[in-house]
Amino acid sequence: MKVVLIEDDATLNRVLKRAIEKYYSITAFTSPAAAVEYLADSSADAVVSDIRMPGMTGFDVLEKIKTATPETYVLLMTGQSTIDESVTAIKKGAYDYIPKPVDTELLIYKLQMIEENISLKNTADLQGRPGSFVMESQSIKDIASQAQRVAKSDTNVMLTGETGTGKEVMARYIHENSNRRKKIFAAINCCNLQPHLFERELFGHKKGAFTGADKDSKGIVQTAYGGTLFLDEIGEMPIDLQPKFLRFLETKSFYPVGASTQETSDIRIIAATNRNPLEMVAKGLFREDLYYRLNVFNIELPPLRERKDDIIPLAEHFIEKFRHINTKVMGLEESALACLRSYAFPGNIRELSNIIERAMILEQTNRLTCASLNLGCSVPDEDMTLDTITRKHILSVLDAHEGNKQKAAATLGVDTSTIYRKLKEYGIG
Ligand SMILES: Nc1ncnc2c1ncn2[C@@H]1O[C@H](COP(=O)(O)OP(=O)(O)OP(=O)(O)O)[C@@H](O)[C@H]1O
Ligand SMILES: [Mg+2]
Repeated sequence: MKVVLIEDDATLNRVLKRAIEKYYSITAFTSPAAAVEYLADSSADAVVSDIRMPGMTGFDVLEKIKTATPETYVLLMTGQSTIDESVTAIKKGAYDYIPKPVDTELLIYKLQMIEENISLKNTADLQGRPGSFVMESQSIKDIASQAQRVAKSDTNVMLTGETGTGKEVMARYIHENSNRRKKIFAAINCCNLQPHLFERELFGHKKGAFTGADKDSKGIVQTAYGGTLFLDEIGEMPIDLQPKFLRFLETKSFYPVGASTQETSDIRIIAATNRNPLEMVAKGLFREDLYYRLNVFNIELPPLRERKDDIIPLAEHFIEKFRHINTKVMGLEESALACLRSYAFPGNIRELSNIIERAMILEQTNRLTCASLNLGCSVPDEDMTLDTITRKHILSVLDAHEGNKQKAAATLGVDTSTIYRKLKEYGIG
């Protein structure tokens, strides 16, 4: 953390500088004007400023900082005569004030509080906004209360359920309800990593471990120490890494790539998959021992078509979310409600979100209509041949998976090769 000190009394300036520099990098000024000029070019996390100074008061300094870099924390040092004004200053954006004569321990304590605030904000940015968790149906309420109970323990959790049913949302919900909520929630999608990079990503590496490793690098189990690690699509974890990962789960210790000594980490694991993990075990794609280690507590997210009570509240939630696209739309038209309730949502909540987003773009009235929702395929058409229905269904599932053929095949319960063959028949892809 970078601190700037502004105190016109040279002796006090020296004393405070010495106290602060034991903990933080500090630049000290006796002239407020010089400090303001410095701050215009170089940023500081916190500014500690006196109030009564020649040429410019601490309040002027505050005002200038709040206009230029509002995220900078300002701590004012105030004598008896300026206490009332300092209270006003807090209303104008000062972080806090500290009475004179300054108790250096208190000053350091306040700076530590600022540091904690900054680090919390960074963590929150890393985690993204914990989007609100819509739950209306009894089944999802029951699941959420189970999740709240398991959140308080350190038990590993396995989340299963079709694509788009909210596994990642649930993983964050568990983290937010756990004692680790102030620490990092780190998510790795096992699909997105090259097998040879996986181990480094997870456990870090030592300098010289491979060509190009010019310094030590931390893995995710070190950066997220004390937090939660969400392993999405766990079924895609390379089979040769699985024994190492299992050992990590059992002993909490690991070797960074190229290291000869072990390190330890304290991290809670939540794994997720939209495939059937036991089937993967049976096919030899996933180690049975690892499966049982991870699957201490299983939460199955039901498909949206089996919790119809959530459809409308979720649709309304997405209308709010996409309000910036179309500020006119106030809700759903009566016929749209029926349309949504009867639709099967092969892509579950993600598909519903896409449908609402698209409808918000198209809608010209002040309520979303059946036409803009465009769920034509949900209305049974007696003239449709089986081939046409199959084609429509395959294309809509593919659409829901954003064109991912493997995921579409898993949802449809067919081999990926079938999808390729069908698309060829249709003259697509
Ligand atoms: N209970 C909920 N309340 C509000 N939004 C939700 C809820 N559950 C899921 N969503 C939204 O639905 C979308 C899909 O959720 P999520 O990414 O968690 O699904 P998933 O099960 O991880 O899917 P996949 O298996 O494809 O990775 C996201 O946009 C998410 O914000
Ligand atoms: Mg997911």
